[in-house]
Amino acid sequence: MFRLTRARRAAAALAAGAATAALALFTAPCAAAVPQPVVGGTTTTTAAYPFVMQITDASGNQFCGGTLVAARKVVTAAHCVVDESTDSVRVVGGRTYLNGTDGTVSKVSRIWVDPGYTDATSGDDVAVLTLSTSMPYTAAKYVSASDTGVYTAGATARVLGWGTTSESGGSSNQLRTATVPVMSDSSCRDSYGSDFVASDMVCAGYSSGGVDTCQGDSGGPLFIGGVLAGITSWGNGCAEAGYPGVYTRLTTFSGLVSAQVGT
Ligand code: ARG
Repeated sequence: MFRLTRARRAAAALAAGAATAALALFTAPCAAAVPQPVVGGTTTTTAAYPFVMQITDASGNQFCGGTLVAARKVVTAAHCVVDESTDSVRVVGGRTYLNGTDGTVSKVSRIWVDPGYTDATSGDDVAVLTLSTSMPYTAAKYVSASDTGVYTAGATARVLGWGTTSESGGSSNQLRTATVPVMSDSSCRDSYGSDFVASDMVCAGYSSGGVDTCQGDSGGPLFIGGVLAGITSWGNGCAEAGYPGVYTRLTTFSGLVSAQVGT
């Protein structure tokens, strides 16, 4: 069982200024690696990706990402919100910078967590937030249950987030994006053994590492062909050779998500 660092706790530690010691504790299981440029890609904006949402605490501290799939519905990871109450989270759209004040802030009126969720390495890492305020931004399309062909090994996937830019580093003030290839299930199984649940997860990354999502990116999107196909979920450290990022395989949960989007 791989021990994961939870974005929520890392973000809380950062927000509290709880210092290097606490953060080191949370990231210790993955601290073996040399810092790598995580989302090794480039900075971008919410103007370019209007459906990418920040999920923050009530004080505005970002701890996860999410994807707008309807004016009042945001797809995120179960592990981001399972311990939250509707009062304790906000969704922020149209804000490229963590320290910005622009965009739209919404309260959350309902948190749906996949009822099968226990922890990220067991699967079912999907949640849907219902917003109190409509987001005036373009929503993303998401995969349907029959789109399973999108996960062909080698397909180019795009990830986005404000997470840490190295395994033990700080969050990025500006939204970042990178592309990573989808990895075959058998390669992912080689990396993660039985923690990789192929029905519920898909891996993406280079076998040599170097480009990946990291802490704070969880809940955010993995797009394939411009369609939301995954949710940033977990990994062993970040951008380490032999350890790709693991994403929720959204085709498996498409029906459940649609049922939530329809309410
Ligand atoms: N669990 C992390 C989060 O909560 C996401 C980690 C993704 N890790 C990776 N190596 N791709 O933000």
